[in-house]
Amino acid sequence: MADSSLSALPIDERFKPIQKLKEVWKNSIENPEEFWADQAKQLDWYKTWDNVLEWKDRHARWYIGGVLNASYNCLDRHVKTWRRNKVAYIWEGEPGDKRVITYASLYRDVNRFASVLKDLGVGKGTFVALYMPMIPELPIAMLACARLGAPFTQVYSGFSIGALAERASHTEAEVIVTADGVWRRGKVIDLKGIVNKAVTQCPKVRNIITVERTKHGVEMAEGRDIWYHEAMKAATERYVEPEPVEADHILYVLYTSGTTAKPKGPQVCTGGYLTYTCSTLKWAFDVKEEDVWWCFADIGWVTGHSYIVFAPLALGLTSVMYEGAPEYPDPGRTWRMIEEKGVTKFYTSPTLLRLLIKYGDEWPAKSNLDSLEILGTVGEPINPEVWRWYYKVIGKERCPISDTWWQTETGGFMISSAPGIELVPLKAGSATFPLPGIDPAVVDEHGVLLPEGEKGYLVIRKPWPGMLMTLYKDDERYQDYYWNRYPNAKEDLFYTGDYAVQDNEGYFWLLGRSDDVLKVAGHRLGTIELEDVLVSHPAVAEASVVGRKDEIKGEVPVCCVVLKVGIEPTPSLNEELRLHVRSVIGPIATPAAIHFVRNMPKTRSGKIMRRVIKSIVDGEALGDITTLEDPSAVEEVKRTVEAFRALYG
Ligand code: PRX
Repeated sequence: MADSSLSALPIDERFKPIQKLKEVWKNSIENPEEFWADQAKQLDWYKTWDNVLEWKDRHARWYIGGVLNASYNCLDRHVKTWRRNKVAYIWEGEPGDKRVITYASLYRDVNRFASVLKDLGVGKGTFVALYMPMIPELPIAMLACARLGAPFTQVYSGFSIGALAERASHTEAEVIVTADGVWRRGKVIDLKGIVNKAVTQCPKVRNIITVERTKHGVEMAEGRDIWYHEAMKAATERYVEPEPVEADHILYVLYTSGTTAKPKGPQVCTGGYLTYTCSTLKWAFDVKEEDVWWCFADIGWVTGHSYIVFAPLALGLTSVMYEGAPEYPDPGRTWRMIEEKGVTKFYTSPTLLRLLIKYGDEWPAKSNLDSLEILGTVGEPINPEVWRWYYKVIGKERCPISDTWWQTETGGFMISSAPGIELVPLKAGSATFPLPGIDPAVVDEHGVLLPEGEKGYLVIRKPWPGMLMTLYKDDERYQDYYWNRYPNAKEDLFYTGDYAVQDNEGYFWLLGRSDDVLKVAGHRLGTIELEDVLVSHPAVAEASVVGRKDEIKGEVPVCCVVLKVGIEPTPSLNEELRLHVRSVIGPIATPAAIHFVRNMPKTRSGKIMRRVIKSIVDGEALGDITTLEDPSAVEEVKRTVEAFRALYG
């Protein structure tokens, strides 16, 4: 691992030695029930719990006996106070249209939409599927479902027909809420057309409610299809009583990819999840009443569920929400929005940062970013180079970075710096320490604890309130995947699927999925490790490394590299990069090939699709590429790899 200590940077002097964080954490681990009971008091409960935690057969039930409603906590309790006229969302559409939504107007629309759903027979326990872009009607729909006690399952709007059909039918959703379309890089994506096709495979769906966004003309089926704006006008009730639900009532099921082809559906509870997301947002971002919070993610993923919708609203914050692409119509869009809206806390993915880095520092330099106080990242390990860029160029060396490690399954942040408790010295590329109540460890393949400095599997040793209750309709897989990995371990260990190492100061370094590892002549190499090295080269904007089957060594690393704008791909640069990797990691890591490409194949959420590159490199079928952002990127990698193969075999 590269030396990533920040000691050379001036902010270091401002950090105190770690003290308070350690105390809070120790207390949370020694007295978990007392600790989590205290945290739950930030919510409004119709009835408080009898027991904080029941832990049985690897299922956690939090706040047993407690009764609450998530929509009430996100809305009603605010509109009773001065926050009634506080802004909940500052929304911007990709074409530049703007909406400012107060808590009062959100409350009004959620109530009306709850009435619409109720009239369609939706009630406690009825599943609703949401297939919606980043428009305000999405949080409205989520909160309306929660108000009725109706669990929802949201399908990211970048997914296609099969994924939507699979998720909607697995949950037996009776209603789908969608939009006619969405704007993406100036083009309309026809969502309703996809729903129309998917729904033929979902016999339980009775109605489809469509928000008019792009007005491009869609097919509506008589009797089944309803326009959102017409339904809202005709809503029979202006106020719908929130359904009091048990703390462990399902709030949502959010499907995520696993190690098998079939997605798994973490099932999330109401009371524990809401408590946990609120606490973690306060700890990791020190959120305050006057903040302008921008979680630049898609609500279709867990990041948006937790930190665009539920936690910020339950805490009464003002959030920015944006419909489109970060570099549209030009690479200054994101930075301009930060200035225009006065964003104080900005949270996004390393991929988005890498994308914007590619265009050069002159773009952020055009905007005044002085409002920023804390920056954050999520979703993948952040390369130290990118971290430093974020810290220097965006944060101007005055904004700490919260690198938050967590998963769909965990509900909220797990390992992250916690400036809301105490600022600790940061290290570029380390998520730092566990948050209160979280007890992670690094173990070997038998579940035996590893010493500091040794890379192993990240596991979590205690239940926490945001954790999944089970996998929806698949408890066996829940047990097998998360809990049965280490049958001989002394205690229950929650398997995360990630590699990690704890350094000699206790900092956690997340090293990527353990399923993305290469075995080169028997040696383990993290694809991320190699990518870090490549990105540390001044010519490289982005890199992706996969293993290619090799008759002698088993696997050899093959790299796809996107160069920074203005840098020419040449054979000598190619050789220079090979030597760079060789010299930083060692001969074993020397890439067998480096392919220069202009774009990486990415999902529409911006993650590089290594699996696709790997299939091309291995000369195999591509499999499912429905989530691909730009099919021409795949063609480019194919052409490049094939040309290489023709030359070198
Ligand atoms: O590999 C870890 C990576 O993302 C995985 C979880 O993905 P998902 O369920 O889609 O949730 C993403 C948003 C929470 C993890 O197993 N990951 C997430 N955050 C980080 C990370 N890897 C390194 N550093 C992070 N901060």
